[in-house]
Amino acid sequence: MSLEQCKFIDLPKISDPRGNLTFVEGGQHIPFPIQRVYYLYDVPGGAERGGHAHKALHQLIIAMSGSFDVVLDDGKEKKRIHLNRSYYGLYVCPMIWRELDNFSSGSVCMVLASNLYDEADYYRNYGDYISDLASLK
Ligand code: TYD
Repeated sequence: MSLEQCKFIDLPKISDPRGNLTFVEGGQHIPFPIQRVYYLYDVPGGAERGGHAHKALHQLIIAMSGSFDVVLDDGKEKKRIHLNRSYYGLYVCPMIWRELDNFSSGSVCMVLASNLYDEADYYRNYGDYISDLASLK
């Protein structure tokens, strides 16, 4: 799994003078079924989230409100991506280390995930992640 597989996904946007509407269908607009939704909110200025990788989880990260940065790292290269719209998301495949920071005040980060929460699916130690990456090759 590499950074090249992580990409922006444009979501359908129904523009309307009464307010816009966006929807996401698991397996249709994103390459996995949705088993879980979680969101980060009330993030204090300067806080950092993430700091882990997942073994098998696929995710779509959306800035539902405000903005923040996602730093992706596949063990070879790192990329900083700014998210600030609710009509596209960042697809993150398994085995990618990610950090989230630079949250604007009042921002909301919504994550669509392919599986239920499972602590055993996490790498919380960067060294363990890198050594498992090497052994997968
Ligand atoms: P974590 O995934 O480390 O948060 P982030 O990556 O956004 O910084 O999760 C923080 C805590 O919340 C951790 O104790 C696990 C718990 N948690 C759940 O119980 N269910 C969930 O779906 C998620 C994402 C986290």
